Amino acid sequence: MSEFIKAMKFRHACKLFDDKRRISKKEIVAVLEAGRLSPSSFGLEPWHFLVIESAKVKKALEEAFFGQPQVATSSHLVILLSRKAKFFKQTSEYLDEAFGRIEKDIKAVESGKRELISFLENDLEADVTSWAKMQAYIAGANMMTAAAALGIDSCPLEGFNAKKLKAALAENIPEFDKKSYKIALAIAFGYRAGEQTDQIRWSLEKIVTFVK
Ligand SMILES: Cc1cc2nc3c(=O)[nH]c(=O)nc-3n(C[C@H](O)[C@H](O)[C@H](O)COP(=O)(O)O)c2cc1C
Repeated sequence: MSEFIKAMKFRHACKLFDDKRRISKKEIVAVLEAGRLSPSSFGLEPWHFLVIESAKVKKALEEAFFGQPQVATSSHLVILLSRKAKFFKQTSEYLDEAFGRIEKDIKAVESGKRELISFLENDLEADVTSWAKMQAYIAGANMMTAAAALGIDSCPLEGFNAKKLKAALAENIPEFDKKSYKIALAIAFGYRAGEQTDQIRWSLEKIVTFVK
């Protein structure tokens, strides 16, 4: 079995972590690096990752996650934020900076922005907020697989009350820039306290159609 498939089989939505075990700085940085290196639409990387180590802050967020025990027992709780829709406008300085990394010529930057905005306005089925969140999900998926490759467990957490979580983040984390970001997804990382649950999946035949 390839190392990659081994990691995919190791990863499961861990429901309870061993709260005595901590992920080392080096390993959590490696996990975050997998997020950073992830692909994103137009290469915009419209995300920010809040990495919560503080037991006190995790406890303060627990209620917004309906008391799910992964939150407080995790070693690191990562909140994946995504840029608000207001940043994807022709006059956006954020877009100037983002496209400016790729295109050196101002005309090319302007035309990159126009192309993006036309795509978002005319071709995308989702709304812009959801589109930005989708990008963060890709980074999150890569973080979880990278963690699994290092023997680190994780649980993606969409089960939260967005309003309560936003308020709790604003109250407990001064660095949380609520004017710029929406909460996309949270991922708890740590080491499993119990047994892994079975992986239940549709068969490849059921979910794949080869078109020859
Ligand atoms: C976007 C997303 C959100 C999820 N939210 C939660 C959650 O809030 N709580 C939870 O226990 N599991 C959550 N899960 C885990 C799924 O229930 C789990 O991945 C699925 O049942 C398959 O199980 P496995 O990952 O253990 O193979 C979430 C998964 C995804 C992809």
